[in-house]
Formats: sequence, structure tokens, C-alpha cells
Amino acid sequence: MPQQNTEILAATATGIARAAQLLRQGELVSFPTETVYGLGADARQGAAVAAIYEAKGRPSFNPLIAHLHSAEAAQRYVVWNATAETLAQAFWPGPLTLVLPLRDGHGISPLVTAGLDTLGVRVPAHPAGQALLQALDGPVAAPSANPSGRISPTTAAHVRAGLGGRIAAILDDGACGVGLESAIIGLAGPEPVLLRPGGLAAEEIEAVLGRKLAQRDAGDPLTAPGQLLSHYAPGAPVRLNAAKPGGGELYLGFGPGDCDLNLSRDADLAEAAANLFGHLHRLDALGKPIAVAPVPDHGLGEAINDRLRRAAAPRD
Ligand code: TXA
Ligand code: MG
Repeated sequence: MPQQNTEILAATATGIARAAQLLRQGELVSFPTETVYGLGADARQGAAVAAIYEAKGRPSFNPLIAHLHSAEAAQRYVVWNATAETLAQAFWPGPLTLVLPLRDGHGISPLVTAGLDTLGVRVPAHPAGQALLQALDGPVAAPSANPSGRISPTTAAHVRAGLGGRIAAILDDGACGVGLESAIIGLAGPEPVLLRPGGLAAEEIEAVLGRKLAQRDAGDPLTAPGQLLSHYAPGAPVRLNAAKPGGGELYLGFGPGDCDLNLSRDADLAEAAANLFGHLHRLDALGKPIAVAPVPDHGLGEAINDRLRRAAAPRD
């Protein structure tokens, strides 16, 4: 695709107005959310959505999340239900995506849903992301703003390193606070299903629902987020649950002890989530194999371990 000059926009009224204008013109704009930076396009413009896949080099069977400024805005595009209302009241704006049936006359490009009759909707909490969605007052389709298969971006510098020259602009507002993509809950079937663990712990969602979430059917490729097992991957091999590094390995620690970088010296899972992708980017830049300390599998640890398993999975 042709090289372009990627504008770096500050999170000011001027920068946000420019970002909204570019989206309206069918351009790609990366914007911050509390989870990771998204690569946004107006979800109603098929050519703009197609450009997302092109810029990322992403397999086109993967559906995208539509970002809205409010639950009311989301209800213009999906068939709402009582469980969605409960979860939206409890967790929106925030790191939660709900998959619901598309509504008649929705106007969303079929490229966003990859032809499914459901749509993932999310209301992000980040102030600059929110301001952009309000300025556009329309649905923004946005995967994470990284080349397909690589580590998700939690700073504007990560986005520029991966996609600079391929997108119109980056709305820069510092580092993302949560650091892991949203949890995705399927609400289009008979019971709520955890489609992807993420930056909101499944236990918190279950506490609000008063019931356990069903687990997704691993054999169902289209409702399975991601997809390709190898994902979020650094260039060099990654070895998990390593009590210590082997010769020539960098060590990504968790909890007290010697290491090259520590996800959280205090063994705090929220801190580890916020650090995960940034630390992987930094170790990746050193070009050596990476050994990762064990991370407990509860709370946000479930999503951290999901991303680590993808980083460590065999590559094509
Ligand atoms: O935190 C996040 O969710 C970030 C930020 C940018 O909002 N976005 C993100 O998007 O992680 P992406 O494209 O990397 O992941 C979206 C996932 C996909 O893996 C897809 O399989 C799933 O959401 N998904 C989207 N729509 C779906 C649908 N209708 N049914 C089932 N899964 C869906
Ligand atoms: Mg992604």
C-alpha cells in the first residue's frame, strides 16, 4: 500500500477534531483506549474498514469490535437485552465487549462482522478515546493497532513503530492504563459465554451476573477471538512458566527476584497486565529468546496467561 505521512495528534480539542475529521473522510486513525491503542475506521464505510485489514496484514475472517461513546449509541446497532443492560450498567465505560445480534437497518459494513449476524460493541473509558467517539458520534471499528500477529500497542510509539507510514494519524495520549484487550462476552445465545478473557476479570463479571460464564466452544473458529493460536508474538521464541532463565535467555519476572524486566515486583496482577505488552516490546527489541516466570491463573492472570500462551505458540 502507498506510504503516507502519519500525523501525530495531541489529545487536545484540535487534535480530536482532526482525528474525527479523518475518520469521517474514511481514513485510519489510531486512538488510545484504556486497554490498548485501537486502529480505527468508520464502521459504516466498507473501504475504510478494508483498509484496516490491509494496514495490519490481518486475515479478513476475524470480526472487529465497534466502539461507541455510550450504551445508548450501542443500542442503535444491536438488539439489546437484560443481561447486556446489567453488564453495561456495571462496567461501561470500561474494558468489556458485548457480542449481540445486529439490529435491522444497522448500517455497519459486513466487513466489520466478517459476515456474522452479531456485532461486538464496546464503550471505552479512556478520555481521549471517548472524546473522539463523541466528536464522530458514530461506530468506530477498531482492532488493536499492531501488524497482525505482533504484540499489541500500549503507547503511541508502539503504534508508530508498527504502522507508521501506513495510517493517516495517531491520537497520542500516553500509555494505556489496563494494558490488556477487553474481555469479550457473547450474549447472542441462550447463556452468557466468555469468548475472550481480558482486562476485566471473569470473576467480576460472574459476581455481577450471579452465575458462572459458559466457556466458548474451542472448536468454533468464528466466535473464537484470535483465531490463530500464535498471536501477540515477539520475534524471538518465548518459554513460559520458567522458574529461571536458561543460557542466552532474557527473563521476564513476576514477583520478587532477579530478572531483566519485572511484570510486577509486588505480584500485583493489574500492574502486570498494564506492563505485559510494553515489557514484551522492550525485550523483543533485544532480539533474544525470552523466558517468562509463572503467573497465577486467577483474576486478570487468566487473560495474561492467555496472551502469554499465544506469544509462545509455534509460529508459521
Ligand atoms: O480492548 C480491545 O478489545 C481492543 C481495543 C482497541 O478496543 N480491541 C481488540 O480488537 O482487541 P481485536 O480486533 O484485536 O479483537 C477483537 C476480537 C476478535 O478476536 C474477534 O474474534 C472478536 O473480538 N469478535 C468481534 N466481533 C465478534 C463477533 N461478532 N462474534 C464473536 N467474536 C467477535
Ligand atoms: Mg489484536
